[in-house]
Amino acid sequence: MSYKEFSYFYDYFNYNADYDGLFNKIRELASGRGVDNGIVCDLGCGTGELAFRFNRAGYDVIAVDNSDEMLDVLFDKRDEEQAYNVQILKQDITQLDMYGTVDLFTCTFDTVNHLEGADSVQKLFDKVSLFMHPSGVFIFDMNTRYKHTDILKNEVFDFIDEEADCHWQNTLYADENKTKISITINDKHAGEEYYEEFFEYYYSLDEVKKMLKNAGLEIIQLIDGESFGDIKPDSQRYLFMVKKEQENG
Ligand SMILES: C[S@@+](CC[C@H](N)C(=O)[O-])C[C@H]1O[C@@H](n2cnc3c(N)ncnc32)[C@H](O)[C@@H]1O
Repeated sequence: MSYKEFSYFYDYFNYNADYDGLFNKIRELASGRGVDNGIVCDLGCGTGELAFRFNRAGYDVIAVDNSDEMLDVLFDKRDEEQAYNVQILKQDITQLDMYGTVDLFTCTFDTVNHLEGADSVQKLFDKVSLFMHPSGVFIFDMNTRYKHTDILKNEVFDFIDEEADCHWQNTLYADENKTKISITINDKHAGEEYYEEFFEYYYSLDEVKKMLKNAGLEIIQLIDGESFGDIKPDSQRYLFMVKKEQENG
């Protein structure tokens, strides 16, 4: 599910997300597989925080998202950075179409959970497998089942700030393995209120492993997506690095 008006407030309310830490970890993991340069494709790139970091580090970057509003923000940030070598594609990542292979695919901050159910996740994995260079890697994260059922649950969060307030309501649909997220934003500058809702879907580790296997992808690292240590029963996010199964080594 793609973002709408929330896109314009994404960076504002996400200011404490550690993109530097995530970028450094992804680089370290990819580098350990010999992927130190080449083409990086960030799937569901949002406002491009990760994509622009890869660009600054000298990679050839393709940033993909299908939200017009996110892409608005992304184009503005590309202008600000004068990062015109970053290619921006408006595509549904489950229908990804590329004109060549990619050395490093990334997909972060729960983008995979935003896809509408297991069939869509499978389609994403199939596309990544199709377009990934034989020695490339795909690094992605996912919010865990535990986070949805024990942490997000039916919680309400209120972020009160100078320019805008955000009221965030979670509603757990445990029978359907999904959480509805309803967001109301009060834009104090514009004097406008926006409402949007979307679902995040969650999966067991076994389900994810099966989907990867179906796509011909093999896990080479699976760590906690926040501590970057071992996964635990109460890990809230997993970080996966996968490669194509047929690759030697
Ligand atoms: C939680 S945001 C994460 C953004 C970014 N990856 C980050 O690390 O900040 C999820 C993003 O995925 C995008 N998205 C969701 N479903 C998508 C789809 N099917 N195709 C392309 N983009 C999608 C949304 O528009 C949104 O920008």
